[in-house]
Amino acid sequence: MKNNVETAKNIIINEDFNLFKVLSSRENTNNPYPVYKKLREYDPVFYMKSPMGFLSEDLWIVTKYDHISSVLINKKFGRGNRFGKSKITAQNYSKLNALTQMRQHWVNFLDPPDHTRIRSFLNKVMSVKLTANLKPNIESIAKYLIDKIRSGDAKDDFELIRDFSYPLATLTVAEMYGTPKEDRDILDKWGSQVVRTLDVVTSQYTQEDLQLIYKSAEEIKDYFRKVVEERAANPEKYDDLISKLLTVRDNDDKLSVEEITSTLVLLTMDAHEAPKNLITNGIYALLRNPDQFDKLKNNPALIESAVDEFLRYDSPAQFTGRRTNEDEIVGGKEIKKGIQIICMLGAGNRDPEKFENPDTLDIERKNVIPLSFGGGIHYCAGAGLGRLEAEIGINSLLENFPEMKLKDKEYNYHASLHSRGLESLELSLNI
Ligand code: HEM
Repeated sequence: MKNNVETAKNIIINEDFNLFKVLSSRENTNNPYPVYKKLREYDPVFYMKSPMGFLSEDLWIVTKYDHISSVLINKKFGRGNRFGKSKITAQNYSKLNALTQMRQHWVNFLDPPDHTRIRSFLNKVMSVKLTANLKPNIESIAKYLIDKIRSGDAKDDFELIRDFSYPLATLTVAEMYGTPKEDRDILDKWGSQVVRTLDVVTSQYTQEDLQLIYKSAEEIKDYFRKVVEERAANPEKYDDLISKLLTVRDNDDKLSVEEITSTLVLLTMDAHEAPKNLITNGIYALLRNPDQFDKLKNNPALIESAVDEFLRYDSPAQFTGRRTNEDEIVGGKEIKKGIQIICMLGAGNRDPEKFENPDTLDIERKNVIPLSFGGGIHYCAGAGLGRLEAEIGINSLLENFPEMKLKDKEYNYHASLHSRGLESLELSLNI
């Protein structure tokens, strides 16, 4: 297995160590786990000067499971209003670019009470019921894609992301929003530009990159503004997540069109990318562990614990951040107020103090609570939906293509920390 080679042998961790630079090399992007192991063993709460002052001048990198979960639930850690919401007035808001405007409303950047307000509206609409209602839609999307693969050219030249995990994730979003299926590629194109601004590994942009990011932010925001306005003008015609966001109330309070528009952009980026990677990383893990592949194929009822294990073993989200609201101690280190903490979820998920044989894929592992959806008040709003897509998607693939195999080639991951996913996964189906 080409990507399973032990990396990080030559990496020296000292005060000059730059995690993001190390993780941007092809070898470590493909397999960051040996680097995480070294860091966990060398110094699990590691101080690093921030490259180019990104996020804050000082960074603390946290790699152990227990430290990470304690940071995520601790109210002394917030997001730190990084984009200066408190300084924005109605007059200067309109002068901001679309990206900065949306960031004022993105729930992942907010602290209470702003976070509590938007998140409570979101929780009301992104309910367990919404996920349950979407189940038959996701099942028929999976069936449609499988039939297409069986009947089309794809069966001889099958690429999992293009032919299955990407369309499954994006068609699910189109169902949830009630937007035209054909719009999913352009939404994805815009979203994948905007999401680059959340990435600490690839966060060096040329002027051209920035122009493209700002233009994409403007276009996707404009797209959703029109969609929201159409539903506001014709409420009787729609019954989808967007119309629910328009009607949801908390006493007399409601979300503004601007807040709904921005939230839809955030949801689109999350819901296009992470479920796609969860399905792809899960299948890749199974194919490199044929005993586990056979186990799940022969007993599809194991899918719930299998998805927990895929989340733990190769999480689609490798980190999340917090900022100290006041001085605090983490793992014996004093972290001053206002400092950025990077919680390396992928490293905590492989912590041997929490999981026995952490580098082994075991779909029957008991009591796995992966860090992959974060925690505390920012715990992923789409966790139920993401899990469901992976459960349906992975079991459909195993049921229909029980003989699928990896091709004899090198498989590479995208150089990104924000989202961990393969560039492509070409498979032979033997059907
Ligand atoms: C399937 C795999 C997914 C993974 C691994 C994942 C992972 C994450 C992580 C790590 C966070 C940050 C949590 C924290 O900082 O504590 C997060 C937040 C969030 N996710 Fe997901 N996500 C997934 C799917 C989705 C989907 C399908 C949606 C939308 C439908 C979604 C919407 C969100 C939102 C809105 C937040 C921000 C929550 C807040 O700050 O209150 N995610 N997710």
